[in-house]
Amino acid sequence: MDTITIGVVTTSDRAYAGIYDDISGKAIMEVMGEYLQNECVYEYRCIPDEQPLIETTLIELSRDKKCDLIVTTGGTGPAPRDVTTEATLNVCQKILPGFGEQMRAASLQHVPTAILSRQTAGICNGSLIINLPGKPKAIRECLDAVFPAVPYCIDLIGGSYMETDETVIKAFRPKGK
Ligand code: MTE
Repeated sequence: MDTITIGVVTTSDRAYAGIYDDISGKAIMEVMGEYLQNECVYEYRCIPDEQPLIETTLIELSRDKKCDLIVTTGGTGPAPRDVTTEATLNVCQKILPGFGEQMRAASLQHVPTAILSRQTAGICNGSLIINLPGKPKAIRECLDAVFPAVPYCIDLIGGSYMETDETVIKAFRPKGK
């Protein structure tokens, strides 16, 4: 079974400064561990909300660390320091707007302020980048909504072959590929 390399990027001035614990970044690794049967190697970064730093981090994780998947948390809202979406849009060669649409639709079932998230996804140097909001409870709500399409997306971009624990989440591959 392939080993999967997953980038986890928390963008938060306060988590970076140690004002609070990065619960959301840890939750991403926990959820991935539940979804995937493959061995996972995590490249974890907790950085401040600075667009150039977010962009260089996303480029490093995709080009140098060759992550199959990069999941960001935080910085998707309307506040002046929320720039993770801009950084993602700037570094990606292709944008996959369906991810943001689906995550917002699912999140709106839980909280009306889901509409405030500009979260998106895209392909950067052969990695799939997915933005999640910063709230810890948003992590599972959003990933449950889109993860069934993630393994096939990673197949299409030439990444590692993901195998999910089907009692937790079922990957959809057209024609049973
Ligand atoms: N989505 C889910 N599933 N759960 C949430 O609690 N919070 C919303 C929204 N999306 C939320 C959510 C709120 S309050 C904001 S401001 C935006 O995400 C942006 O959050 P961010 O700036 O931390 O990324």
